[in-house]
Amino acid sequence: MERLDGIQTVFDGGARSGRFSILLAKQGCRVTHFDISQPMIDKAKELAEAAGVSDRITFVRGALEKLNNYPNKSFDLVMSFDTPISYTYPNQNRVIGNLVRMARKRVAFSVLSRLGTLPYLCNPVQKTQFILDEECADPFVQWSVANREKMIRDFRFDRQNAEWVMADGLLGDRQEIEEYEAGHAPWCITYTFMPDELERILRGFGVRNIRLSGPGAYGRTIPREILVKLMSDPEQKKDSLDFCYKFDSISYVCGMGKDNLLAVGKIEWGFWLTHIALFSGKR
Ligand SMILES: C[S@@+](CC[C@H](N)C(=O)[O-])C[C@H]1O[C@@H](n2cnc3c(N)ncnc32)[C@H](O)[C@@H]1O
Repeated sequence: MERLDGIQTVFDGGARSGRFSILLAKQGCRVTHFDISQPMIDKAKELAEAAGVSDRITFVRGALEKLNNYPNKSFDLVMSFDTPISYTYPNQNRVIGNLVRMARKRVAFSVLSRLGTLPYLCNPVQKTQFILDEECADPFVQWSVANREKMIRDFRFDRQNAEWVMADGLLGDRQEIEEYEAGHAPWCITYTFMPDELERILRGFGVRNIRLSGPGAYGRTIPREILVKLMSDPEQKKDSLDFCYKFDSISYVCGMGKDNLLAVGKIEWGFWLTHIALFSGKR
């Protein structure tokens, strides 16, 4: 939050129930909360009202694939966190280009990471590793704990699928992917990015000072018993989380985090001015 210097307006694409849009509005930003799902927008409105920030948030229902109505440089910061861009396959590059075009100063995207996803294909109980309180009443926690043994029993490594994901980045049943590509399936297919690919796409759209990181890369190496110990001691919690942040930002591990790949960068407007001039025939 202390790094928000100069950011007054924000576009949050695929904002779900407002995890970031509400937080940013609380910091004084004017936020456009954009999501394809009306139930998610309704929930976010309810939470924003409870937090007393609904007057600083504009709620818009829409698809990231259709951003043409937003003018260039409409927002200081354009962000899309926790995978919405990955759900726009096969239009993900065009969506990123449009999001960058709408940004005046900075972009921050987190997409599904191919390198972070591949280990999950051999770990059916990956989420239980990160549950600190197994007694917690959350239905997902209860379900994960109750089904842990069964998930291990039923698991069989599917090498062919792992190699497919590694090669083309697409998650899901191959027949479903074929149906989708032939235009017969209304649901989306999820695309996972390689770090150098995401960096190349951003660079191609004029983003500079790009920093990539793999949140969760260090945490993934810590056994559950140790995680519980660290998180129950405020001093060790702070120290270990600060260290995780540093480790996860090293370029060698980028992409190896839990399953998100984070990219932040600055907008180089010379690029867009030339680009716009070229397309409008002014050069
Ligand atoms: C995993 S959530 C991310 C939520 C939020 N950004 C966060 O970090 O808490 C993905 C969100 O993207 C939205 N979404 C999926 N596909 C979308 C699309 N094509 N256009 C806009 N939103 C989309 C979903 O409705 C969902 O709310």
